[in-house]
Parts: sequence; C-alpha cells; structure tokens
Amino acid sequence: MNAGGRSTAAPNLAIVIGASGGVGRALAERLSADPAHGRILALSRRRPPGWEEDGRRTWREVDILDEDSLVRAAAQAADLGAPSRILVATGQLHGAGLAPEKTMRSLDLAALTALFATNAAGPALAAKHFLPLTPRDRPSVFAALSARVGSIGDNRLGGWYGYRASKAALNMLIRTLAIEHRRTRPLGLCVALHPGTVDTDLSAPFQGGVAPEALFTPDRSAQALLAVLDGLKPDDNGGLFAWDGTPIPW
Ligand SMILES: NC(=O)c1ccc[n+]([C@@H]2O[C@H](COP(=O)([O-])OP(=O)(O)OC[C@H]3O[C@@H](n4cnc5c(N)ncnc54)[C@H](OP(=O)(O)O)[C@@H]3O)[C@@H](O)[C@H]2O)c1
Repeated sequence: MNAGGRSTAAPNLAIVIGASGGVGRALAERLSADPAHGRILALSRRRPPGWEEDGRRTWREVDILDEDSLVRAAAQAADLGAPSRILVATGQLHGAGLAPEKTMRSLDLAALTALFATNAAGPALAAKHFLPLTPRDRPSVFAALSARVGSIGDNRLGGWYGYRASKAALNMLIRTLAIEHRRTRPLGLCVALHPGTVDTDLSAPFQGGVAPEALFTPDRSAQALLAVLDGLKPDDNGGLFAWDGTPIPW
C-alpha cells in the first residue's frame, strides 16, 4: 500500500463492465488468460454464469444506470491499481416492450428513452467514474462497444431508430470524452468499437440473414477487439473502429 492507503502492487489492471454479456464475458476470459494483466475486475448486474474467482479475478455488482453502484465499483477498482484497459460491453437492442423499430409508426418515448439510457448515458457515466482511475504515466485504453449501425454515414437501410440513434449518441460521447481525457492523460485513449455480428442474446432474434462465416463467436470477436486495442496509435483517440481495426465513418 502507498501512503494514501491505495494498493500499488497489481500492475495492468483490466476492467470489463458488462461482463455477464456474450462479448463482455468473452473479453473477461481473454484478458484473464493474458499474463500481461495482473488483475481482472469483472463488473455486471449479475455474476457471469460459471465465473470462477481467484486471486487475479474479481467480480463486483454494477448497474450502469445506478450511479451509486458505479461510484462503489470505481472505489473497489482503485484499490486494485490503475487500469490499462477499461472495456464497456453493456448494451441493449431488444427486451420487454422493446423491439427495433421498422417504421416511424413504432417510435415510442419509453423505448427510445430506455435505449438512450442504456446505450449512451450508462457508458458515459461509466467513463465519468472509471477514466479518472487510468494512469497518467503509461498508456491506457477506455473502449465502449458501439455498433456499425450507429454510423450516420453508413446508414443506408434505415429502421432500428432507437438503437441506431443511441449508438450515434454514444459515439459522440466517446469522442467528447476522448478530447477531455487527453488533456490530463496524454497517453490515454478513448475509443468506440464495433464487435462484428456476434452470436449473443442481443443478436439472436436477428441472425436470420447473416451468413455463417459472418457470425462471430463471442471469443472470436473478443480476440479481434483486443488486437485492435493493442494496435491503436495516439491519433486514434476518439475514433470508432470495427473488429478488424478499420475506421468507421461517423
Ligand atoms: N452481438 C452483436 O452482434 C453486436 C453487434 C454490434 C454491436 N454490439 C454491441 O456489443 C455490446 C455487447 O453486446 P452483446 O452482443 O454481448 O450483448 P448481450 O449478450 O445481450 O450483453 C449485453 C450486456 O449488457 C448488460 N447490461 C444491459 N444493461 C445494463 C445495465 N443497466 N447495467 C449493467 N449491465 C447492463 C447486460 O447485463 P445483464 O446480463 O445483467 O442483462 C449484458 O451483460 C453491446 O453494446 C451491443 O450493442 C453487439
């Protein structure tokens, strides 16, 4: 412990927020298998099924729409060290009373509000509480999972109003966070990522037209996303990147 009572023993802490989800769980497992990360902190509303705790891996409860829970989790993270990776893998496309809109006739205030809360406001609040934990003297990456359909320039099909718009809002929040973050953490990056089309609960109802080779396992996606993060350059700060590292237009 240092003079302030904070542990400095564990280098390269990696944090996954949304570790109970398909991609989030795979990210946590991949990071756990990488000896470069001394500690893994998995955060989610429910304990990831089959999650095994040991000296390196810790799970704590977090709801990104409950700011008190983010404050508590950030304090717990600070005790584990300064994170070099913070991955936000939360997100919502469908659920009770919530289905992607095919037409403007389906637009609904409650559904739009719920999607904006989960997909845009929640990750921004996570950034508010976790970005300040990143080191000042070495590189770090904060990455939020967005979606290609949140790209305004790439929108040719229409539909999915709330999901598209909430991810576009997330992209803007990430860009804005990246600019502010750079002022105090010149080596810190803040990016948005598209994980590909991944076989998870989120995509399950919409996989009909997806070619088998285009549907990733969560582990395949996690592997690709972590490789993208490892290859980021300083000028990539604030960008939106696909699973293969290709920049996606706003
Ligand atoms: N799968 C795809 O094809 C695809 C494509 C493009 C983008 N994405 C994006 O990739 C990310 C991961 O998606 P996924 O496919 O892994 O979906 P998923 O399996 O449905 O996982 C979503 C995760 O978000 C969590 N979550 C939702 N609201 C939350 C809240 N208020 N507080 C804490 N956690 C919350 C869920 O927690 P619970 O377990 O507690 O419900 C779950 O862990 C999302 O941002 C999604 O939009 C996915």
